[in-house]
Amino acid sequence: MNLKIYENYESLSHGAANQIIEVVRQKPCAVLCLAAGDTPRLAYTLMVNMAKTEGIDFANCTFIGLDEWLGISPVNEGSCHHFLRRHIFEPLSISNDKIHLFDALTEDPQGECRKMDKTIIENKGIDLMLVGIGMNGHIGFNEPAGSFQAYSHVVELDETSRTVGQKYFREQTTLTSGITLGLGHMLEARQVILVANGSKKADIIRRTIEEDVTPLLPASLIRNHVDAYVILDKEAGSLLTPR
Ligand code: PGA
Repeated sequence: MNLKIYENYESLSHGAANQIIEVVRQKPCAVLCLAAGDTPRLAYTLMVNMAKTEGIDFANCTFIGLDEWLGISPVNEGSCHHFLRRHIFEPLSISNDKIHLFDALTEDPQGECRKMDKTIIENKGIDLMLVGIGMNGHIGFNEPAGSFQAYSHVVELDETSRTVGQKYFREQTTLTSGITLGLGHMLEARQVILVANGSKKADIIRRTIEEDVTPLLPASLIRNHVDAYVILDKEAGSLLTPR
């Protein structure tokens, strides 16, 4: 696992954007799984700007959704769908046939999971997965749990995710369950980037990097990945033991 600590959120975002651009430069038909969330928002804006100014074409990339709030419409501003369309797909003019997101309004969530797993296999795996980390150490909606869920699954959301998740919504919203890729998808992705910023993430980052690798702290599994990058700003890295 590679650890990079940047001076601030802006430089962290530049670092993450550069890394995504580099993957697409080397493989224009890359399969990308880019998380929604506050942390990577600026990285995506910078990525879109770089793609335009440097002529990096994302049109042949395939996009895989990491997770979604079950029951929340894609037109709701708090949904991952809405975030990804607004920050990535619309500005890069990605065609719908290149986008594979979980349908949160499905009547068959298990079928939706199987469909996503099949899509990933048919696209020969994920080249780059970029994730944030929840305040409880979750990755996507892989919540702290006694056992490891490898592939797509439906989850009952942890109390922390229900509460923290309100920040994405204009109104108080009932969040009970989610649908998510599994930790096996993360471990099998050819490259993984975890981004975190701000002092509020400092303790969970310390535990992720310095405590045991366990599904009770899903993000810690990233340490078993062969080509993983944990990209922080100084504040998120402030509780790490100096190396
Ligand atoms: P955030 O979300 O980037 O909005 O902090 C991270 C996550 O919950 O995975």
